[in-house]
Amino acid sequence: MEVFKDYYNNTVKLVIGNETFSKQPKHVWVITRYKKQWLLTKHLDRGIEFPGGKVEDGEIAEEAAIREVKEETGGLISNLYFIGQYHVDGKGGEIIKNIYFGEVDVLEEEEHYYETEGPVLMKELPANLKQDHRFSFMMKDYVLKKSMQVIRERFL
Ligand code: GTP
Repeated sequence: MEVFKDYYNNTVKLVIGNETFSKQPKHVWVITRYKKQWLLTKHLDRGIEFPGGKVEDGEIAEEAAIREVKEETGGLISNLYFIGQYHVDGKGGEIIKNIYFGEVDVLEEEEHYYETEGPVLMKELPANLKQDHRFSFMMKDYVLKKSMQVIRERFL
């Protein structure tokens, strides 16, 4: 487990692999790839980030991951791989989020994309993402850095 502070100085605990904090996390985050590009979404308030959100009643985390990617980008997930989980001790309480690597094979155009402006495709993420105001705070802590490292080693 690794412990660090996020962009807002909240404490984050991260595990890669199956030694998770919860078997029923309420949040999911999907680092998504479509045709050799990263597939992100532009959240109306937070800015550019990988798709994700809350697990709804009656869903398991994997179903939520597939649904959120579809809602926020129009992408249909063909393969979903569990990477790890993180715990954030935030101002409004704690949240636990599963991290996945998702491969999308079809990108459908949607009429609307919920709280987002829809898909954003990038060949590479910028190196100075932390200073880049277009990006969401979620993209600015060690969770993304470590997860990308794992994904590059295992899948790319
Ligand atoms: P809504 O009910 O959808 O409005 O959610 P919310 O704004 O209360 O946010 P949510 O329950 O998703 O998260 C609560 C807090 O946890 C946020 O304000 C953040 O501080 C923190 N948080 C949520 N997701 C992440 C994340 O991916 N990374 C980090 N570092 N913090 C997060």
